[in-house]
Amino acid sequence: MSHVLIAGGTGMLKNVSLYFASHGMNVSVIARNPGKFEQLILSKGIHGYINPLRADYNDYEQLKRRIVNAVSIYGPIETVVAWIHSSAPEAPHIIAEIVNSYNIPVKYFHILGSEHSDPSAVNEDYKEIFYRLKNIFYRKVILGFIIEDDKSRWLTDTEISNGVIDALKKDDDVFTVGRTEPWEMKP
Ligand SMILES: NC(=O)c1ccc[n+]([C@@H]2O[C@H](COP(=O)([O-])OP(=O)(O)OC[C@H]3O[C@@H](n4cnc5c(N)ncnc54)[C@H](OP(=O)(O)O)[C@@H]3O)[C@@H](O)[C@H]2O)c1
Repeated sequence: MSHVLIAGGTGMLKNVSLYFASHGMNVSVIARNPGKFEQLILSKGIHGYINPLRADYNDYEQLKRRIVNAVSIYGPIETVVAWIHSSAPEAPHIIAEIVNSYNIPVKYFHILGSEHSDPSAVNEDYKEIFYRLKNIFYRKVILGFIIEDDKSRWLTDTEISNGVIDALKKDDDVFTVGRTEPWEMKP
């Protein structure tokens, strides 16, 4: 059974966790709150397995240990979906380095806020780290906004999960959920 790792998979990406589980995969979900894990596991339509990988991704050593343990049980990870707050800047790389080390190809979908649509406004050096890892196929998924009746708003959780699932299927190097132009219309 394929093994998928989703960081932040009990929040706005909950439906992405359920999408993989409904396709019969082992889904290791990184988050902290036991109540949110319970809600996810009790959701209907799961044919695969949700593995609650309880870790604070700010604690890099704990994060590493938990992922290595999950791989020892469910096998090497083939897909990563990572939504990680900027409070843990190294966590996306740490995850990539661990999954890279098992010598199988890994698709890594990095979910990023709208500001990443403008590379000049964001330090993009971190990308080099992913590109150096030979087994990592790095994909950027940028969360944009919606314009309706000349007004803009942020995406809902359902729109974010659905958009990320579209990004997984399309498998483009860069995929934007919603839009990031015109930037002046950002909510
Ligand atoms: N462009 C856009 O439209 C856009 C962009 C970003 C966000 N948003 C909106 O903003 C809302 C809030 O964003 P959010 O990031 O709080 O959303 P969220 O996805 O609802 O929650 C964050 C996820 O990451 C986990 N998490 C957070 N900190 C963690 C840590 N230190 N270690 C391990 N796991 C951790 C959370 O679980 P635990 O709390 O259990 O750890 C949860 O699964 C979202 O609901 C979304 O609608 C919109």
